[in-house]
Amino acid sequence: MAAVRPSRNDHWWRDAVIYQVYPRSFADGDGDGTGDLSGVRSRLSYLSELGVDAVWFTPWYLSPMVDGGYDVADYRTIDPAFGTLDEAEKLIAEATEFGLRVIVDIVPNHVSDRHVWFQAALAAGPGSPERELFHFRPGRGEDGELPPNNWPSEFSGTTWTRVPDGEWYLHLFTPEQPDLNWSHPTVRREHEEILRFWFERGVAGVRVDSAALLAKHPDLPDFVAGVDPHPYLDQDGIHDIYRSWRAIADEYDGVFVGEVWLPDAERFARYLRPDELHTAFNFTFLTCPWEADRLRAAIDDTLAEHAPVQAPATWVLSNHDVTRTATRYGRTDTGFDFGTKAFGTPSDLQLGTRRARAAALLTLALPGSVYLYQGEELGLPEAEIPLERIQDPMHFRSGGTDPGRDGCRVPLPWAADKPFFGFGSHTEPWLPQPQDWARYAVDRQDADRESLLSLYRTALLLRRSTAGFGDGPMTWLVADEGVLAFARTNGLVCVVNLSGRAIELPDHEELLLASSPLHSDGRLPGDAAVWLLR
Ligand code: GLC
Repeated sequence: MAAVRPSRNDHWWRDAVIYQVYPRSFADGDGDGTGDLSGVRSRLSYLSELGVDAVWFTPWYLSPMVDGGYDVADYRTIDPAFGTLDEAEKLIAEATEFGLRVIVDIVPNHVSDRHVWFQAALAAGPGSPERELFHFRPGRGEDGELPPNNWPSEFSGTTWTRVPDGEWYLHLFTPEQPDLNWSHPTVRREHEEILRFWFERGVAGVRVDSAALLAKHPDLPDFVAGVDPHPYLDQDGIHDIYRSWRAIADEYDGVFVGEVWLPDAERFARYLRPDELHTAFNFTFLTCPWEADRLRAAIDDTLAEHAPVQAPATWVLSNHDVTRTATRYGRTDTGFDFGTKAFGTPSDLQLGTRRARAAALLTLALPGSVYLYQGEELGLPEAEIPLERIQDPMHFRSGGTDPGRDGCRVPLPWAADKPFFGFGSHTEPWLPQPQDWARYAVDRQDADRESLLSLYRTALLLRRSTAGFGDGPMTWLVADEGVLAFARTNGLVCVVNLSGRAIELPDHEELLLASSPLHSDGRLPGDAAVWLLR
């Protein structure tokens, strides 16, 4: 075991590389077809050798798994499919021994409909204090047969469900995810205790799910497009919640990363003020097409919006909700948009993979921290899931038009020649793995110095050991059209060629790393990136 103990007081989060584990699909320790904590524990050395600094676990709590664990029934219990609290504690301790910090995921906007609070609210009936923890309302129309307002769902469909006594309750996601009433002090107190519960167990940070949705306009008025303020997205009252959370995190040197999807840069930055969340995911970058001008603008906008609050940027290519990078970058439309997802969109995977390699060097050279979603380091493509095996509620709620998010959640291939590619042992994984995934298996890529896994390992090692990476300034260099070239400190330069033709490299002393081989005359081919020292 590498005995690097993370120190608790530095600003590690300002330039960390954080690996996202989706426990259900990472490694299956007990062979029942579902990934689990023992699987993760057996693969900590993999993460440590990869060279990441921290691991973010998507929810591992007790859950009916209607929304992949984002429907939490009890934060203080690990779902039995994943293991036990004792194992989670061991995992946190072992990760720390490997030099890996642990980030857990908290889903404050809603709970599972199996949560004791919601069960009690259903039983207690209209007007009860139990119902006040949620948003229960009478319906509109003569007999209350119409939903209380017109709010659009974050997943398609309605946001209100009627219970047998006639009241309706609000759920921005599925009916199995009732929204909590964040103006209620009990809701606030409970989450403060949940934060303490996990910080006490040694976690270094918390990801805040759907972070801009918690506070609702007290009257729950209709949503009117284009009219501000939005009744539930980014309500001003939300910042008070995060200020109280920050005070708790500070007691433990804990950090937050918020899932804040907001188009307005100034409103986004408010979440990152010094007494609120430390960081937030960069969805501007994640959704950006593979085009030099657009990427440059996304990078500039990101740095400009973070600068006034002095928060570090984050760079994210994918996560458990979006199309895998290699597939997306091989399509005609290389951006990401939930609204345009469709079955059967063609992709040139060879091209997409080449770009994904270049994008790896780009993101790892930008100032700030980087999120790496499991399988990204293997170049996994989006899998087509047979209709009868789809599990994601986003698919069902779209009336079957949206393929859903299962295609990026397929269990990882570890060993090319083992059953289920070494993910588990005796039971078929909960989502089927494409038959040709042997070529992506960790053991195959281990043995191949040209593999994406090898590229990530080398890049992460260099990023750690070379001055100039991570937090700090960057300066654009003059470059041809379609080329992104920027300098960091200490002579470090990153060049990404999206121009479609080979280009000359700027003068340099040393080529640190290239995402694809250079031409024999030293030129950088299209859809490739390099790190140079001047
Ligand atoms: C976040 C999660 C997503 C989940 C949703 C509802 O967007 O990333 O997976 O479905 O919140 O909790």
